[in-house]
Amino acid sequence: MKLTLNKREKVIDIPGETPSLWAIREELGDESLKFGCGKGICGACTILVNGEPTKSCVTRIEELKGTEVTTLSGLSENDQDLTNLQKNWMEENVAQCGYCQPGQILNAYALLKSNPSPTEQEIKEWMYNLCRCGTYPRIIKAIKKTSEENS
Ligand code: FES
Ligand code: FES
Repeated sequence: MKLTLNKREKVIDIPGETPSLWAIREELGDESLKFGCGKGICGACTILVNGEPTKSCVTRIEELKGTEVTTLSGLSENDQDLTNLQKNWMEENVAQCGYCQPGQILNAYALLKSNPSPTEQEIKEWMYNLCRCGTYPRIIKAIKKTSEENS
C-alpha cells in the first residue's frame, strides 16, 4: 500500500492489520514516534493523519492508505527550519526525559492549527498526552507563547 510520510511517498508491504506505530518505526525507519502504553492511552505514539492527531499504536497501517502522515521528523526539514512551536518548546525548556515529547509537540501543533488562540482550559482539554515527568506547566507555557506570537 501507499502512504505519504512527511511529504514523501512510501510503499509498504506488510499485513494491513499491523499497528502503524510498528510499521512506521520498524518498516519505514522513523523512530521519532514512541511506544508507551500500546493501548491508546498515553499519546506517546501520536502522529498526524491528514493533520489530525492520531494514536498510531491503535491505528492499523491499512487505515493510513492514501493519507498524509506527519511525524515529528517531518515537522521541520532541519534545525534551522523549526516551527515557532518547536522554538518556544526549546526556549521554555519543556522536555525533561523527552520520551513523551514528540507526541506532545505534534498534538500541540494540531491544536494551534485548529484553534490559534486556545485558552488554558482549552489547552488542558485538548492535550491528552501523559507525561511521567510532569512537564505540563511548561507545555502550556510554550503553547500559549506560540499562540500569542501568532496572533
Ligand atoms: S503508545 Fe499509543 S497511546 Fe500509548
Ligand atoms: S518529558 Fe519525560 S515523560 Fe514527558
